[in-house]
Amino acid sequence: MSALRRFRGDAALLAGLLVAGLVLLAGSSPKDVQSSLSFLDAAGVERSFSLDVMRRACEEREVVVDDPYHRKSMGYVALPLGCVLDLGFAASGGGEGQRDRGLLLRAFDGYTRSVSGRDLLEEGAFLAFGESARMGRGPGLARFTRIDRRQVDPSPFYLVWTGVEQGDPHDHAWPYQLAHIDVAPFEQAFPRTVPSGLAKSHSGWAGYALFQRACASCHSINGEGGKVGPDLNVPRSIVEYRPIQEIRAYIRDPEATRYTSMPAHPDLSEADLDALIAYFSVMSERKDDPRARGDS
Ligand code: HEC
Repeated sequence: MSALRRFRGDAALLAGLLVAGLVLLAGSSPKDVQSSLSFLDAAGVERSFSLDVMRRACEEREVVVDDPYHRKSMGYVALPLGCVLDLGFAASGGGEGQRDRGLLLRAFDGYTRSVSGRDLLEEGAFLAFGESARMGRGPGLARFTRIDRRQVDPSPFYLVWTGVEQGDPHDHAWPYQLAHIDVAPFEQAFPRTVPSGLAKSHSGWAGYALFQRACASCHSINGEGGKVGPDLNVPRSIVEYRPIQEIRAYIRDPEATRYTSMPAHPDLSEADLDALIAYFSVMSERKDDPRARGDS
């Protein structure tokens, strides 16, 4: 072996030791530094929690889920999302305090999914921070298998659902690379429900306010909002297939038409019903069907 070859070998070894030393000095790899989740509450206060802190606060579990991206059953090490929300929103009523709020789930890759607090408080939600098969196999191994068409690393967090009915990402949010959970005003959380371009004086705005307060926890418009009842705008708007008088009667007292879990709204005045119908009518001219769009 020539002197040069030997020198290059030594140099490589030295460089390697140097890098190892720097990593030790820094105390953690860049990936670990990113392993925190931030929470923005309704007052605009942001709090960030590292994985270590969340693991101390919430009991971790191994969960097996029907993974819609891997298209098979996968085991994850995860924290119950309810506990994580209680920690993140401790200053504003915990997870339960966000039930009627709009939230944005934001990922490192820019993916943003709007959900209601109610959606996230459903049983079966877990914040996964690694695959069972990969955890504890030394620091060199990535915690997750790469995922989705783009083959990205789901780190630091992947929201998974254990229920058999919760495996469709159209109905339940399954964001990976999750980094932020932000309380956001309804319009910001559910932009496709906004009657955009409508004159400020139009009664559709009053209807929209009513819809947010009384209906959105169960119903969506253009795929955004609650999933308990049917979407009221796509593919066909409620005002396109039901006579207006029937819709009004139905909203006031659904059980007079059919036995249902939809609650009665005897408190709504004639003017309130006018406003709701106005909102549905203007939204029927602003269709934005998530399935036609092909995203979630
Ligand atoms: C607690 C959940 C819940 C709330 C709140 C709620 N709904 Fe419903 N709604 C349902 C469910 C579930 C259905 C489907 C079953 C049925 O039609 O009875 C439904 C059905 C409907 C239908 C009939 C749809 C069809 O095609 O037959 C209309 C119209 C409707 N809701 C309007 C409203 C409006 C407007 C509000 C707000 C004022 C509202 N709902 C609030 C749960 C809810």
